Amino acid sequence: MVELKTAQPRRHPNPTARASALAHLLFERPDLRPAEDFLTDFGLLPASRTHDVLTMRGTAPTPYCYRVHRAPRARFVGAGFSVRTREELERLARVDGASGIERSPHPGGGEVVTLRDPSGFTVEVIHGQAPAEEIPTRKPLTFNVGHERKRINHTQRPPTTPPEVIRLGHVVLEVADYQATCAWYTQHLGFIPSDVQVLPDGQPAVAFMRLDLGDTPADHHTLALAQGFMPLYSHSAYELVDADAVGMGQRVLREKGWTHAWGIGRHILGSQIFDYWQDPWGDKHEHYCDGDVFTADHPMGVHPVSREAMWQWGQPMPRAFTRPHFSPAAMVAAVRNLRRSPDLTLDKVLTLARLFG
Ligand SMILES: [Fe+2]
Repeated sequence: MVELKTAQPRRHPNPTARASALAHLLFERPDLRPAEDFLTDFGLLPASRTHDVLTMRGTAPTPYCYRVHRAPRARFVGAGFSVRTREELERLARVDGASGIERSPHPGGGEVVTLRDPSGFTVEVIHGQAPAEEIPTRKPLTFNVGHERKRINHTQRPPTTPPEVIRLGHVVLEVADYQATCAWYTQHLGFIPSDVQVLPDGQPAVAFMRLDLGDTPADHHTLALAQGFMPLYSHSAYELVDADAVGMGQRVLREKGWTHAWGIGRHILGSQIFDYWQDPWGDKHEHYCDGDVFTADHPMGVHPVSREAMWQWGQPMPRAFTRPHFSPAAMVAAVRNLRRSPDLTLDKVLTLARLFG
């Protein structure tokens, strides 16, 4: 029996706001063209394009789910979350370091408050965004299964095209200041921990957190926070129509010459069938289908962390998948965080390196 020995992750009894969706991610890239090329082959569709800002969308009515700003250096900036009421936006505007309520110039408009989480990631909270027209997708394939044949005199021929991305599903971030960052998301956006993986001493290594949608089932995780040496983007994940879309996505991305990261397999925590690809800057993007959904009352699970706890079947996780890319600047930041962060000890760093390095 493993136990969580720290204050976080834990749901907050009275959060500032309850995020109702992960609206979008925000990146900076030196060149928008290769960003759009990759995302198009990955299955996203253009929503808007100027000289300096590109937005992409899925088929769901969210006006855009991916925003790229032209900037000298490639980096992940942060994420956008929706809230249902203006009161929540007003309360968030009073949080330390928050902007005032501003009008969004991006597709769908609406009002936005910009915050910074304790790890330095930008958090945009949006309300009143006008939905876009939903784009129809192909229907999920009908399976002939062992006990039931539903497809008679018909074949399986999913199209050999980039898979239709329905929507952005989740983002996974590594942080050094684990307790403070986790506490911030549970307190201000109402995140509920679904499952936490703990180190042998009971400290959290990864928390998979879902939205509090009450009785409406929410994805097993919309945000996952992993203990790392410094704040880093791990990956983001996009929901596809079915498993054949995941498979066809792999074929199309491979034929287009993009770099594969891991898959196809099925996760344990969240249960998704997954496939991971790298964008032109080495950032991982996941195709998935068939994820778990939980209502708000479902209790938190606690599990020992290990490489083997990451997947049920499929290609083993390559070592390179979790190995940090240590540039000289990253080494300096890691050493500084080791000295400064209350959540980082040499012992923990060595345990994480043994597990995932
Ligand atoms: Fe994922």
